[in-house]
Amino acid sequence: MAFTHRLASEADLPALKALMTRAIESLQSEFLSPAQIRASHGTMGLDSQLIADRTYFVIEEGGVPAGCGGWSWRATLFGGDASVIAREPRALDPGAEPAKIRAMYTEPAFARRGVGRRVMELCEQAAREAGFQRVELMATLAGAALYRTCGYRVVEELDSPPVDGVTVPLLRMEKAL
Ligand SMILES: CC(C)(COP(=O)(O)OP(=O)(O)OC[C@H]1O[C@@H](n2cnc3c(N)ncnc32)[C@H](O)[C@@H]1OP(=O)(O)O)[C@@H](O)C(=O)NCCC(=O)NCCS
Repeated sequence: MAFTHRLASEADLPALKALMTRAIESLQSEFLSPAQIRASHGTMGLDSQLIADRTYFVIEEGGVPAGCGGWSWRATLFGGDASVIAREPRALDPGAEPAKIRAMYTEPAFARRGVGRRVMELCEQAAREAGFQRVELMATLAGAALYRTCGYRVVEELDSPPVDGVTVPLLRMEKAL
């Protein structure tokens, strides 16, 4: 069956939150310790602003959500509603600043079937149409391979703010559109 895509709406919130939890627990286990996976719930997750802005995509197969991810014209680089990361809602200047790629998650049963790549293409196309010339993102170790494949380069290696004393390695990456 072929994948389809649509913009997420508020009705998708419960299903997408559950999908993200499964993706964090399962697909990061190869890269992070159990304590770092627990801390990830405090640095990642759903940012409902992206859904309100209609810049968040759901990929489906036969009506079943296979993954999700979005982009933003706002300054917030990463973090979810429940995370310790501060929000920066101001609008970016498309001529001078990079758009953000945000909150990429694939349902574990659908991993490595091109869902992440499909979301990246949709996001980059939407950012280009909005006038942006560059895109940037904050990558987890689990996400870095996808972004490298999509042409992103690492511009900074850092640790997340601590959650219960535990930090998570992150990579800031960017690409010219
Ligand atoms: C990151 C994530 C969204 C990737 O989703 P995905 O749908 O499996 O990715 P794709 O199938 O589109 O991968 C496309 C290409 O990226 C690379 N890639 C993706 N995941 C990889 C992995 N775990 N190891 C090595 N390469 C990988 C490969 O080149 C892959 O192509 P291939 O399968 O033909 O070799 C998914 O692993 C995930 O949800 N991780 C947990 C949450 C997370 O960390 N999200 C990122 C936040 S920044």
